[in-house]
Amino acid sequence: MTASVSQPLAVGLIGAGGMGTRHAVNLHRFVPGARVAAVYDLDADRAAHAAAQSGGGPVCDDPLQLIQDPAVDAVLIASPDDTHARLTLACLAAGKPVLCEKPLATGVADAAAVVEAEAALGRRLISVGFMRRFDAEHVAVRSAAHSGAIGAPLLFKGVHRNATAAFGVTGATILINSAGHDLDSARWMLSAEVAEVRVRGLRSRADLHADTRDLLAVELAFAGGALAVIEVFVNAGYGYEVTAELVCQSGTAVSQQPDRALVRAQGQRGFPVPSDWLSRFQEAYVIELTEWVASIREGRAFTGASAWDGLAAMTVTNACIQALTSGAVTPVQLPQRPGLYEPVNNAAAP
Ligand SMILES: NC(=O)c1ccc[n+]([C@@H]2O[C@H](COP(=O)([O-])OP(=O)(O)OC[C@H]3O[C@@H](n4cnc5c(N)ncnc54)[C@H](O)[C@@H]3O)[C@@H](O)[C@H]2O)c1
Repeated sequence: MTASVSQPLAVGLIGAGGMGTRHAVNLHRFVPGARVAAVYDLDADRAAHAAAQSGGGPVCDDPLQLIQDPAVDAVLIASPDDTHARLTLACLAAGKPVLCEKPLATGVADAAAVVEAEAALGRRLISVGFMRRFDAEHVAVRSAAHSGAIGAPLLFKGVHRNATAAFGVTGATILINSAGHDLDSARWMLSAEVAEVRVRGLRSRADLHADTRDLLAVELAFAGGALAVIEVFVNAGYGYEVTAELVCQSGTAVSQQPDRALVRAQGQRGFPVPSDWLSRFQEAYVIELTEWVASIREGRAFTGASAWDGLAAMTVTNACIQALTSGAVTPVQLPQRPGLYEPVNNAAAP
């Protein structure tokens, strides 16, 4: 890293929409040892807004200049999915650590090119924003299974529901933009790679565009024999919810919702459901950023998802897109994992 230990890490943000602005504010308010040093967005007003919310740093008018700026120590990419691979490669070329929002790329070839470039460099500079790895409920489920107390994990059951989706959302869009989280969760929870997938999808209501596939049922078979079943439903209507369960040989562990208050109103007792990921995973985003900054300042690998995890998720995503079209069980062909990506500790496996 280029920042001295006594100076806060200077982070440049690319992409200041919902996610990027939240990261900038989190970095500014809650993450020790870092500051927002520059912001770029295609929309300069958005960049200015995010900069104003996070310490008033400068707005840049070119993302590559931001990456190369000697005043920027590390880069956070939260621009649209199809910009990620190119910007991440530019960070590698500049020798700068980068936290790239998921997905690492929108295609396998682009994700593989990023992994190849980092492996050739021989240094881990890339972290990928699969923040569920830092969510307390997800960590508790994984820890319960990995403690050995309930036997070996056999089956991952995931539920991922969004309140509403764009009209006409396709299965491929959901798989690239939403289900990547679930595919990463399954790999991480089971500490194994996916060998085969099968996917079915449906349109949940007749008034949606005919091409809509807004509810997907994903089945995964892992090398080593474990299974996963995942529901991704992006028009669930009632709110945003994610659940992860591991069924093990002699017990199960399932995530609880981090409910804040039991609300009694209108003749009912209940727990409010978050409207979106920003509220559900706020703590996880902060822990993720805190660990990312600490890993750079301490000169060690990030314990969250690596570029390899980004490539693996993209490869499974691609197989799922093929499987949704063909209806067939579809093999997942991952390249050999470069030695650079040996798990750095138990939290980061597989
Ligand atoms: N980890 C998570 O939980 C999570 C949640 C939401 C979004 N994301 C990811 O974060 C990224 C941003 O998502 P979002 O919800 O903030 O979207 P958004 O639409 O709210 O924001 C995207 C921003 O990028 C800007 N932009 C467009 N083209 C650009 C370019 N070429 N260079 C720089 N900026 C550009 C837009 O002006 C906009 O401000 C996406 O890759 C998304 O998949 C991750």
